[in-house]
Amino acid sequence: MRRASLRTELLLRLGVPLAALVPFNVGTTYLDARSTADLVQDRTLTASARVIAERIQSIDDVIEAPIPPAALEMFVSDEPDRVVYRVLDPDGDLITGYADGPMPPTPPKGLAPMHFDGMFQGRPVRAVALAQPIVSAAGTRNGLVVVGSTLRNHDRLVSELWLKALRDQVLLVAAACVLAVYGLTRGLARLTRLRDRVLARDPERPDRLADEALPNELRPLATALDDAFVRIEGDVAIQRRFVANAAHQLRTPLTILKTQANVGLAEASPEAAREALRAVDRSVGAMNRLVNQLLSLARAERGTDALRKAPLDLVAVLRGRLDDLAPLALERGVDLAFETEATALPFVGHETLLGEIVVNLVENALRHAPEGGEVVVRLTSGDGAIELTVEDTGPGIPEAEREQVFERFHRLDRSDPSGTGLGLSVVREAIAAHDGTIALGPRADGRSGLRVMVRFPVSA
Ligand SMILES: Nc1ncnc2c1ncn2[C@@H]1O[C@H](COP(=O)(O)OP(=O)(O)OP(=O)(O)O)[C@@H](O)[C@H]1O
Ligand SMILES: [Mg+2]
Repeated sequence: MRRASLRTELLLRLGVPLAALVPFNVGTTYLDARSTADLVQDRTLTASARVIAERIQSIDDVIEAPIPPAALEMFVSDEPDRVVYRVLDPDGDLITGYADGPMPPTPPKGLAPMHFDGMFQGRPVRAVALAQPIVSAAGTRNGLVVVGSTLRNHDRLVSELWLKALRDQVLLVAAACVLAVYGLTRGLARLTRLRDRVLARDPERPDRLADEALPNELRPLATALDDAFVRIEGDVAIQRRFVANAAHQLRTPLTILKTQANVGLAEASPEAAREALRAVDRSVGAMNRLVNQLLSLARAERGTDALRKAPLDLVAVLRGRLDDLAPLALERGVDLAFETEATALPFVGHETLLGEIVVNLVENALRHAPEGGEVVVRLTSGDGAIELTVEDTGPGIPEAEREQVFERFHRLDRSDPSGTGLGLSVVREAIAAHDGTIALGPRADGRSGLRVMVRFPVSA
C-alpha cells in the first residue's frame, strides 16, 4: 500500500489545477498586452498621418505635402522605430515619401483611418492609410497619406506589459501555495492532537474523544473511535471475567477430581476403583457443564453488538430446543408440554441465544419439578410483544431470592452439585440482547411452582 500524505495530496489537488490555470492565464495576458500595444501604435500612426494630411494643399494645381517635424517626433524613443511615410496625389502618384512604402490592400473607405500590416524593406510594419480631400480647380479629390512604423517599440511594450502581469501571477500562485501549506498545517494539527489524545487515552478513566472542541469533519471519526473503544473494552472485560471465573470456578472441582483419581488409584478392589471412576466421571461432567455455561455467558454478554440477528420462526426454534430436552423430561418423570396457538411466529433475533434462554429455563423447571410433576411452556403474541412463559410444579423461588438468582454462581441449594449457578445469568444477558424483560413469580393457579415470564418487544 502506498503511504500517501494527506497534506501532499491536498496540496497537489490545489496546486495542480492552479498551475494548470497559469498557461491559460499567460495566454490571455499576452493577448491583452498585444491589443494594448496595438492600440497605442495605431493611435500614434493615426495622429502622425493626420498632421501630415492637414498640411497637404494645392497651389496653382500643384499639390504640396511638406512633412512637418511634429509628424515624426511622435515616434521618438530610446530605440526609435523606422518610420516610413508617403503621400499620393488623387491619381496615385507619389508626392513625397518612400516609393516602396507599404500600401493598404484596398483603398480606405471614406475619411476613416485604415490600419493594416505590411512589409517595408523586408521588415514587418504596422501602418495606417488616411484619405485626405484636396481642393483644386478641377474640384475636390482625395489624396492618400500612408504612415507606417516598424514594430520594435510595439513589441517592447508587449513584453513589458506581459512580463509584469506574468510576474504578478507567479507571485499570486506562490502566495496561494504558501497560504495553503500554512492553512493545511494548522488544520492537520487538529488531527495530530486527536491522535495524541487517542495515544494518551487511559482505559481506566476514559473520556470521550468526540467533544465540542473538535471540528465537524473530525467528529464522526472521533465518535466512531469512541464507539469502537467502548465495544473493545466491553469485550476485553468479558474475556477477562471469563478467564477469572473459569480459573476460580474450576479450581475446586479440579482439586476434587485429583482427590477422586488418587482415591481410585489407591483402591485395591476393582469394584471400589470403579466407584472412584464413576465419581471422576461425574466431576468431569460437572466441569464440562461449567465450561459450557461460562462460554454461553460470554457469548450472551457480547450481546447484539457482535452478534448478527436474523429473521427466524420462534415456534420452530422452541420446538427444536424442547425436542432436545425430551430425554431429560423422560428421565425426570416430568410431563413437558408446549402450548401455542401460532403455527409460526416470525421474529428477528439470534437463534443460539434464544435457544439458550429456552434450554436454561426449561432445564431449571424440569430439575425442580417433582417426579410426576409438569412443566408447561407457552408462547403467545400480541400487543406489540411476544411472551414466553415457563411454569413448573416445583418448590418455586421465595420472593426475597428472585433477584439474586440472576447473579452469577448464585444457587439456592448449594449442596446440589448438578448446577453451576450460571443458567439464569445467561438467560438474563440473552434476553437483554433482544431488548426483552424477564420476571419470576408464583404460578397463576396458586399451586406451588415457579412461573417465568419473558417478554420480547416486536416492532410492527
Ligand atoms: N424453576 C426453578 N424452581 C426453583 N428454583 C429454581 C428454579 N430455577 C432456578 N432456581 C434456583 O435458582 C438458582 C440459579 O439458577 P441457574 O439456572 O442460574 O443456575 P443452576 O441451574 O444452578 O445452574 P446451571 O443452570 O448453570 O446448570 C438455582 O440454583 C436454583 O436454586
Ligand atoms: Mg439452571
